[in-house]
Amino acid sequence: EAKTCTRCRLHEGRTNSVFARGSETASLVFVGEGPGFHEDQQGLPFVGNAGQLLDRMITAMGFDPAEVYICNVVKCRPPDNRTPNPDEAAECLPYLRAQLEVVAPEVIVALGRCAAENLGVAEPGRRWRGEWGTWEGIRVMPTYHPAYLLRNPENKRVVWQDLQAVVKAMGRELPARS
Ligand code: URA
Repeated sequence: EAKTCTRCRLHEGRTNSVFARGSETASLVFVGEGPGFHEDQQGLPFVGNAGQLLDRMITAMGFDPAEVYICNVVKCRPPDNRTPNPDEAAECLPYLRAQLEVVAPEVIVALGRCAAENLGVAEPGRRWRGEWGTWEGIRVMPTYHPAYLLRNPENKRVVWQDLQAVVKAMGRELPARS
């Protein structure tokens, strides 16, 4: 359904609709904002530079990127990689809702303010990063988006704290650092 969706204007510019990568039985889900150039070309989320950083973060948490589930708020690339408009996100939200209901993870990591807002864990004007929230009874950790970290590497430290909190909440151990 998402592949051929025409509910909002974003379908007009897409090469591929970008649904998810990873495991549908994952205990951990990462939700980003929307596909960029490479994602639109390949039909897979987080396959560009931000995706490479995300995979390194997932590995540092002790997970294989193939055993988590990675998706976005919107499935079609916004023009010039802009943030999706609220009406576009709203039209696409039933897909995300269905994805999260099927995967039913233990924890969701919301990558960036767009994901945090659309999962209902960020209120305008209030600190949102690093504050546990819930979506339909599932714990949600909102943290900075990896694309933001590529531009602001000094924030990697606080994101790592958020991800460590996720590992701990899931009752797992961090791997020995290599
Ligand atoms: N940024 C996102 O939010 N999602 C992607 O899939 C790629 C980059």
